[in-house]
Amino acid sequence: MGQNDANWRGARTAVYVFNPGEDVMRVAKDAYAMYQSENGLGPLAFPSLKRMEDEVVGIGLGLLNGPEGACGNMTSGGSESILMAVKACRDQAAASGRDVSAGEVLLPESAHLAFDKAAGYLGLRALRVPVADDLRANVAAMAEAVSERTLMIVGSAPCFPYGLIDPIEALAELARKRGLWLHVDACVGGYFAPFARMNGIDLPAFDFAVPGVASISADLHKYGYTAKGASTIFHRSEEQRAFQIFESSDWPAGHMSTPTAAGTRPGGAIASAWAVLHYLGVAGYRDKVRMVTDTREKLMHAIDAIDGLRTFGDPKLGLFSFGADDIDIFAVYGRLLKRGWFSGLVTEPRAIHMMLSPAHAEVADDYIADLEQALAEVRSTGESASTTEARYA
Ligand SMILES: Cc1ncc(COP(=O)(O)O)c(C=O)c1O
Repeated sequence: MGQNDANWRGARTAVYVFNPGEDVMRVAKDAYAMYQSENGLGPLAFPSLKRMEDEVVGIGLGLLNGPEGACGNMTSGGSESILMAVKACRDQAAASGRDVSAGEVLLPESAHLAFDKAAGYLGLRALRVPVADDLRANVAAMAEAVSERTLMIVGSAPCFPYGLIDPIEALAELARKRGLWLHVDACVGGYFAPFARMNGIDLPAFDFAVPGVASISADLHKYGYTAKGASTIFHRSEEQRAFQIFESSDWPAGHMSTPTAAGTRPGGAIASAWAVLHYLGVAGYRDKVRMVTDTREKLMHAIDAIDGLRTFGDPKLGLFSFGADDIDIFAVYGRLLKRGWFSGLVTEPRAIHMMLSPAHAEVADDYIADLEQALAEVRSTGESASTTEARYA
C-alpha cells in the first residue's frame, strides 16, 4: 500500500516524519506494541500509564524550566495541546467575569493554524498580526492590536513557516502589562531547544523561565522522536490547568474526569514517549540535536552560496526555509519532487521549507547536488510552477 508514499526511510522527506534512526524507532515501536490495548482513560486500571504520563510531564517541565507548581498532561498532538491551552484560557477568563463571547486569540501571522482551529471550536476569533521584517512576531504591532476582547497572545518557539523563535520576553512583558495569557507554542522546539542550548547554541529565553509565560505546548512526536499521537501541554499552575479539565457525573454511569479532549487515550503513545525519553536521555537527545543543527548549518551555508538562492532569517534549531530571487522556487520544488525529495512549502514569501531529522546528515550532499540541477533546469526552461501550486491550492 505504501509504495507511492514519500520515501522517509531513505531520508528524502523533510516534513511529517522525524527519523532518528533505526534503534530509536525500534524502542518507540516495541513500547507502543506493549501498551497498544491499554487505555490512559483509566488511571485506576492502569496506574503504570498514569505513572508514565506523570514522569513524561516531569521531564518536559524540567526541560522547560517549569517552576514549583507547574503541571501538565500528555495529549494526542500539538493541535490538541493548543486546543487545551485556548480552552483553559477562555474558561479562566469567563470564570473571572469577562465576557468571552467575542473573545480573541492574538497571533503573529506565522503561528500555526491550530490556533484558528481551536478558536473556531471554542467560539473565539483568531486575529493574525503581520510579522516584522525579520519574520518574527512584531511585538509593537501586536500591542496595538490588543483590545478588551483579547484573551490570549501567542508566540512560537519556533514558528513552523520559518523556524524562528519569536521575541518571547517582549511578548511576556506585553502579556503582563495587559493582564493576558501568553501561550508559547513550542510544539517543534520543546524537546529540541533545551538540548540545543546545552550544546552551546545561543537561544533567547522562551520557556517558563520568562515570567508571564502561562502555558507551553511541546510535541513528543516531533523532535521527541516518539510514536505519533504524543504531545504535552504545560501550565504554570494547577489553578490554570483546572480550567482544562472536564468533569461530570450527569449520566447514569458515574463520575467521569478527563484532563484533555480525548476520552480513550492510547496507552501505546504514552508508553512509547516514556520509553524513548528514557532510552535517549539527555546525552542521546544532545547527539541527535547536534546532528540536526550541523546538517541545517551545512545546508543553509551551501544554499546561501548558490547564486540567486537565499535562506530566511537566523533559525537556530532544525527547521529553515529558503527562496529564490530570479526564478520561481516552487518550480524548483517541483523538480526536486520528481527526484524523490518531499518537503513543505511556504507561501509568504514563496519558499521551500525543510524540517530536518538526524537521518538527513547522510543525504545533505545529495540534496544540494539535486537542488543545483533542479535550479539549472528551471533557469533553462523558465517553467511555471502550476503543478506544484496545485498541491497547495
Ligand atoms: C509550531 C507548530 N504548532 C503546532 C503544530 C500542530 O501539531 P500537530 O500536527 O501535532 O497537531 C505544528 C505542526 O507541525 C507546528 O509546527
